[in-house]
Amino acid sequence: MKSSLTAVLALAFVVGCTKNENEIVVGEYGSLTGGMATFGVSTHKGIQLAFDEINDKGGIKSKKIKLITLDDQGKDTEVASVVTKLITQHKAVAILGEVASGLSKVAAPIAQQNKVPMITPSSTNPEVTKLGEYIFRVCFIDPFQGFVMAKFASENLKAKKAAIFRDVKNDYSVGLADVFAAEFKKMGGEIVIDTAYQQNDIDFKAQLTQIKSKTPDVIFVPGYYTEVGLIAKQAKELALTAPLLGGDGWDSPKLNEIGKDAINGNYFSNHYTTESTDPATIEFVTKFKAKYNEVPDGLAALGYDAARILAAAMERTTELTPSNIRDEIAKTKEFIGATGKITINEERNAVKSAVVVQVENENRKYVTTVSP
Ligand code: PHE
Repeated sequence: MKSSLTAVLALAFVVGCTKNENEIVVGEYGSLTGGMATFGVSTHKGIQLAFDEINDKGGIKSKKIKLITLDDQGKDTEVASVVTKLITQHKAVAILGEVASGLSKVAAPIAQQNKVPMITPSSTNPEVTKLGEYIFRVCFIDPFQGFVMAKFASENLKAKKAAIFRDVKNDYSVGLADVFAAEFKKMGGEIVIDTAYQQNDIDFKAQLTQIKSKTPDVIFVPGYYTEVGLIAKQAKELALTAPLLGGDGWDSPKLNEIGKDAINGNYFSNHYTTESTDPATIEFVTKFKAKYNEVPDGLAALGYDAARILAAAMERTTELTPSNIRDEIAKTKEFIGATGKITINEERNAVKSAVVVQVENENRKYVTTVSP
């Protein structure tokens, strides 16, 4: 009896050790379901592609990366529990996520408190990385993105009067709307109306009618794809012809499914374009298409970059502890990513160019690049 128990314990010990010795657990949390599902799913595909490639080449320090992905359903009520689970139960040495800035802001204090590095691939609100020295991002921030779209409205579209239609409970949308307004005014433009909706709204006609009465040259709608698609449709029904402008939150194939042809011709700023001639972008797009049989959106590209930057940082550590990994992520310089060259600055942000694209059915026609 005693010897069999010993044997069982010994076996459990060996299994436990084997697992710990040969694997590096990385946690990922994102919206795999719900109204932002394409964000989480695309990001996951990018991350998985990166880790599969790395594992196929032998992993990191002869260990395989084990990715644990949990669905937060795009809800702030779920985020805290899934992130805590990744850290305390799965013992992740680093975590990747979220896309939505509001959700990254819920998760970041948990990662920070537990001293586990977190890299958000795509949260652009400036507050996110201010939440602690363990919090990083590999994308640009909204003060830059807002400037890009104000400049595009003013210089390229020669707009003088802009309307703003913001998702008032969404940190990302509010932050971006504020920057756009400030920058557009600095450029000599006027904000003729600044009005609001909320996530999950389905009828936007009252606000759109008010917007129409102010005859703006452009309408800035820095929201997420589900509502933006509906807004485009209803704007068209009201014969509102001013172009809609937005930010990266538009980036989803669902934008077209929801907005149909009403979304065509409108513009948004994004992290990369599949029309790029940069060899790193071309290589990524080719590999992604081969694996998933679809064209990667910006989320997928940023997920891929975040995962590879994390892996490169892990490879440089002398010992794979969360704090060592943190220090190495902070040293990331001129990393050749699918979304461009990435250097993490003192504020743990990436300084990068943005592109403006025009929606043309499922295509995102490249219009211009703006560098910081
Ligand atoms: N930047 C958005 C945010 O911070 C998220 C997002 C990124 C959405 C990229 C789409 C594409 O909330």
